Formats: sequence, C-alpha cells, structure tokens
Amino acid sequence: MNDTTGRVLLVGGGPGDPGLLTIAGRDALRRADVVVTDRLAPLAAIAEHAPQAEVVHVGKIPRGEFTPQERIHELLLEHARAGRTVVRLKGGDGYLFGRGGEEWQVCTGAGIPVEVVPGVSSAFAVPALAGIPMTHRGLSQGVAVVSGHVAPDDPRSEVDWSGLATTGLTIVVLMGVATLGSIAETLIAAGLDASTPAASIADGASPSQRVVRARLDGIATAADEGGIAPPAITVIGDVVAALEQTG
Ligand SMILES: C[S@@+](CC[C@H](N)C(=O)[O-])C[C@H]1O[C@@H](n2cnc3c(N)ncnc32)[C@H](O)[C@@H]1O
Repeated sequence: MNDTTGRVLLVGGGPGDPGLLTIAGRDALRRADVVVTDRLAPLAAIAEHAPQAEVVHVGKIPRGEFTPQERIHELLLEHARAGRTVVRLKGGDGYLFGRGGEEWQVCTGAGIPVEVVPGVSSAFAVPALAGIPMTHRGLSQGVAVVSGHVAPDDPRSEVDWSGLATTGLTIVVLMGVATLGSIAETLIAAGLDASTPAASIADGASPSQRVVRARLDGIATAADEGGIAPPAITVIGDVVAALEQTG
C-alpha cells in the first residue's frame, strides 16, 4: 500500500441525535476529507465535527431520491484511491440493515484499508427513548429485530413471521410502516394474542419524535391515524406496557 492510498471509515452515526454519536464516531469525522452520507445520519454532527470535509449526499429515500448501492461503492473507491480519508456515515449502526458489510467487502477487495466504528442502532435506542425496556425482567428474555420492508405474504419475504409469533420474544420491526397491518394480521393468525401491546415510534431521537401505542390488532390503524411515517420502528410485546403503570 503506498502512502497516497486513502482509507474508508464505516461509521455508525446513531439514531439521529448528534449526542448519540459515539466519541469514536466524532473522532472519525474530525479526520475526514470526505463524508458520504444519507438522510438518516446525524447531519448536524457533520457540520459540527467535519466542517473541513467535502460532503456527498447519497439518497435512500423509499419511493424517492435513490442512489444505487453500486454508485456508493464507486464513490468510496474513487475518493479513497485519490488518497482521501473517507467517512461513510450512516444512521444507527452500519451493519444492521445498513449494507455496511457490502461496503467493507468492496473496499477491502480493492485493497483499501477499512476501519469500522459501530453506532448506536435505532433498533435499541428508539424504543428506549420511548420508554420501552425491551427485555424487562419477567416479561421478555430476548428481542428479534426484523425488517418489514416486504409484507409477510410477499415472495421476497425471508422472515418466518408465523414462527416469530410463538417465540415469546419482543419483536422490533424496522422499515415496516406500509406493511404493518399485514404483519400484525400474520402474527395474530399464527397465535400471538391480539391484545399484545404495541407501539410505533417515528423520528426517534429527534424533536419530532412521535409515539403511538395500541393493541396489536389496532396498531396499524392507530399508527396511520397518528401520523406515523418513515423512519419509524414498531415494538410488539408485553414490554411495551412495562413502564406505563410506574411511569
Ligand atoms: C435501512 S434501516 C437502517 C437502520 C440503521 N442502520 C440502524 O441501525 O438504526 C432504516 C430503518 O431504521 C429505522 N430507523 C432509523 N432511524 C430511525 C429513527 N430515528 N426513528 C425511528 N426509526 C428509525 C426505521 O425503521 C427505518 O426505516
């Protein structure tokens, strides 16, 4: 590796609040010549910690602005090969539904040094901020974090929703606003009690955070009426109500 070769830092930026960026993430931003980022990353943190950097926005908005993953790979390689320190900043943790693994493979495959800085995932931070302790003692001994980006009856779905219904685990659904009704119906049909508490949380860790709570059989309607829109997370399980009596 010659001295002019740059590097790529895969940085998880946390769920949106710049205060939930890790110290290692902040230090990575301070080293950046280029920041390649998308809308779920903490953009205020870039302005604060990387004013020196060129910022490249790559869109991944559902049914909106979209940069193909292959183009993102090209950008990372182009900038690193030009000798730059490139921060690939993502929302949450880059390895949880973040395609960070693919970016690691492409960069290391091209001989570019890669550093990984884990981030605070929205899957864990956002429920906590909404008052939901996801493995509250006596109520849940585990958590399943699943993607709802395709409905359970979609041939592309790889999630065993019916199996999940009987595990006793707290279920955390990411990317599942449009499919929430279908997910709830499938879980209930497979044996999960229709009265199981559920909560949908939009724009977690930001001033516009909204929380809607309902029984599982009413959560899709309640979320719709409550203005829940992406990015949002739904938590399903008795833990959703754990702190309601004591809070
Ligand atoms: C492509 S996934 C990326 C997850 C991210 N890598 C993480 O660890 O948080 C995007 C989904 O994460 C969830 N999400 C991310 N940030 C969120 C936030 N601030 N509030 C609610 N949900 C969020 C939503 O379900 C959104 O559709």
